[in-house]
Amino acid sequence: MIIPKYSKKEIKQLEKSVHEKILGSWISNEDLDKEVKIFTAGEGCWLYDIHGRKILDTFSSLITTAVGHGRIEIGEAMLEQMKSLEFFPIYHDGFTVPQIKLAEKLAEIAPGDLEVTCFVNSGSEANEFAIKMARQYFWQTGQPNRTKVIARRGSYHGTTIGTTAVTGFADLRTVSNPVPGCLFAPQVKCAQCEFGLKYPSCKLCCLKGLEKLIQSEGPDTIAAIIMDSLPGSNSGYPLAPKEYIQGVRKLCDKYGILLIFDEVQTGFGKTGYWFACEYYGVVPDFLDTSKAITSGYQPLGAVITKKKIADVFKQGPGSEFRTGSTYGGHTLACVAALKNLEIFEREHLVEHARDLGKYITRRFKELKKYSVVDFISGIGTLWAIELKSDKPIGTWIRDWCWENGMILRNNGNMLVIAPALVMTYEEFDLVMEFLHKGIQAAMKHFKIK
Ligand SMILES: Cc1ncc(COP(=O)(O)O)c(C=O)c1O
Repeated sequence: MIIPKYSKKEIKQLEKSVHEKILGSWISNEDLDKEVKIFTAGEGCWLYDIHGRKILDTFSSLITTAVGHGRIEIGEAMLEQMKSLEFFPIYHDGFTVPQIKLAEKLAEIAPGDLEVTCFVNSGSEANEFAIKMARQYFWQTGQPNRTKVIARRGSYHGTTIGTTAVTGFADLRTVSNPVPGCLFAPQVKCAQCEFGLKYPSCKLCCLKGLEKLIQSEGPDTIAAIIMDSLPGSNSGYPLAPKEYIQGVRKLCDKYGILLIFDEVQTGFGKTGYWFACEYYGVVPDFLDTSKAITSGYQPLGAVITKKKIADVFKQGPGSEFRTGSTYGGHTLACVAALKNLEIFEREHLVEHARDLGKYITRRFKELKKYSVVDFISGIGTLWAIELKSDKPIGTWIRDWCWENGMILRNNGNMLVIAPALVMTYEEFDLVMEFLHKGIQAAMKHFKIK
């Protein structure tokens, strides 16, 4: 690994350019005034910033770098490909070998009869494409009125107008134009049940609510239900009862609705399964992925669907899927994904995530002794610790961890721990040390007993 060095003058200029030449997302100028974080190198779960500080990354660079930073072999595979052909788009009748090989690999690891891939560039695009595919599917099979999409409160699905419209956080939708036909079902977070009920005595009130919504809207107007079987870092990884997710599948079958699972965040081993839906024993009609498909070495997204759905778009001129993106399934991104998945298999990372998840479960129990820890939720390498306090304790702990050398993601008073799949047990012990000390320091600072 090479750790580049910069002079004080160069750093000052780079920081100035961040202020003046970049419009970031979700960052206020007030935060940037405090500190501009510039990263220059990485290895495994560790990053180096421009000042040469070594920092433990517990959010795997936005839940992407499953195989960790610094895997030169991924770059070497891309370089090898570049010696012959760097890129040809999947648009009409042209393909490159890495695109075909990756589609074959995804068919092998995807659950059930999911075996046909449509490549895109990102998670948002994967969800957008799946929604468009579901609508065109019905349009072409004689049910053009099936256009509505049901999503869930508390689930995030992306950045485009379409995926923002099905994102179940009202504040994220405020500045997007509303898209007609996007409906919301209850969030399923048993620890904070919307109905104030407890599982199993609730008798899955949320599932009944979903069925009522389908019935009241008219089942033959609904194209798809989109959900993250395990909602992500914005929602605190609430594990729904298995019978809820299985019940959603049954409702889709009963009413002829297509089921889209957003596995952008949960896909590729993070739950200890290749895909979260395997934990629930449910196969959706569309499985949308991105992030860890390349471990962040290249941008790539994919919608994996069933042959019987894909075949509807292969019935001669006029039936083809009417959308496509220039760079979707970029040849070099497919090479990166193939090498990434080779590392997954060689190092048994899915199994490691499952074992590490059991260790995390055990060690997180230690945190329950703190009065501010409300509840902890997650599986594999995806975890959230919900704190109860009327003070901004989550942000304080995040800042404390950063100052002491660890990246910790927080959503208000929810702390998120979602490390790379390569995190070792020793590295996780270090995470625990940070959490203990950070929580204790915060309680002292806010005078919480
Ligand atoms: C569950 C989920 N869906 C969709 C997206 C959007 O993916 P992208 O940022 O690659 O467009 C994300 C991104 O964080 C996500 O976590």
